[in-house]
Amino acid sequence: MNQSEANYDEELVPAYTLPDPLTFPDGAPVADAATWVARRRPEVLALFEEHVYGRSPGRPGRVDYAVESDVGALEGRATRRQVRVTFGNGEAEARVELLLYLPSGGPRPAPVFLGLNFAGNHAIHPDPAIRLSTAWMRPNVARGVQSNRATEYSRGAVASRWPVERILERGYGLATMYYGDLDPDYDDGFRNGVHPLFNRPGQLGPAADEWGAIGAWAWGLSRALDYLETDDDVDAARVAVMGLSRLGKTALWAGAQDERFAMVISNESGCGGAALSRRRFGETVQIINAAFPHWFCANFKKYDERENNLPVDQHMLLALVAPRPLYVSSAAEDLWADPRGEFLAAKLAEPVYRLLGAGGLPADDMPGLNEPAMGAIGYHIRPGPHDLTDTDWGFFLDFADRRL
Ligand code: GCU
Repeated sequence: MNQSEANYDEELVPAYTLPDPLTFPDGAPVADAATWVARRRPEVLALFEEHVYGRSPGRPGRVDYAVESDVGALEGRATRRQVRVTFGNGEAEARVELLLYLPSGGPRPAPVFLGLNFAGNHAIHPDPAIRLSTAWMRPNVARGVQSNRATEYSRGAVASRWPVERILERGYGLATMYYGDLDPDYDDGFRNGVHPLFNRPGQLGPAADEWGAIGAWAWGLSRALDYLETDDDVDAARVAVMGLSRLGKTALWAGAQDERFAMVISNESGCGGAALSRRRFGETVQIINAAFPHWFCANFKKYDERENNLPVDQHMLLALVAPRPLYVSSAAEDLWADPRGEFLAAKLAEPVYRLLGAGGLPADDMPGLNEPAMGAIGYHIRPGPHDLTDTDWGFFLDFADRRL
């Protein structure tokens, strides 16, 4: 099934009943905040591990940081750090490049946005000092990828998605890594990237309830935060994890698992991200598992065409972020990602936020275009297609100013 064959008709959305984040499987209500924190939250998290994303390991046996720092980057506007992170377990090794910009003359330690990128660190900004990625990339002529490798032409290729100067002017840092350093985005049975570091003797690939690619990318975001905690110029208690699309799914999963993230931002994350699976609007569980068999855990395939059997839906993933500020954004033309399903999931996370005394999403129905609603949960829908734009960043920065 391709994008043009999916359902985009609200009338054809099936009737569905959602599982309630505030009800235990035996029907008992989650009556107070302490019960959510001690019993229900761990239970919901375990359901997502077992049925959707798979369980992820903790920190690897060995981690080294090789840090190169330049205080005069971007015509004096920034301190640029490039951190080569090496993970090892005595046998296997994996290397990830973390790029960090911090505002010159801004507040220190600085709050930071952290997000994975699709095209290599060198593609987020034309800054010639950014190391050109040597990693495998999906074919992309427009981004100068030749034979699955970046070229000089790739520099700054996705700069429109990363308004670095604007982020710095507002007093925030930006940290990013290429997602393919953690796990190349193709279905190879998890022979490369970080998965092999954690194989048990004789194990060739993840079990049905163990991490897929999204799990590995989210694991990498937590490892980036491990580094940020060691950097005195970063306020690690104020890191907002964000991402677009498959990397928005990833940001949500990282923020759900790792409560050190102070804020979580999902940009057009769609199916398996912020959108309710049971709506079957745009991309569905079956479609995503067929196109990207390596993203989720193998157990998730049991729910192809059977969303109603899932013990969770994606509003419960968003509820795992509570009481920390959560922001969900959609694009009007991005029907594949089901904007209404993303809004509804954000709204349906609200009871958990309220139980924890955190407030909610101040909108009863979907707000108009470019009219963000911002409470403890924020939401906007902007005009245009699937992308990460200046408009999106403007709202993320406003939300961070208020809530981070
Ligand atoms: C595909 C996929 C989506 C995903 C998107 C992206 O469209 O079907 O689930 O979000 O790629 O990551 O760009």
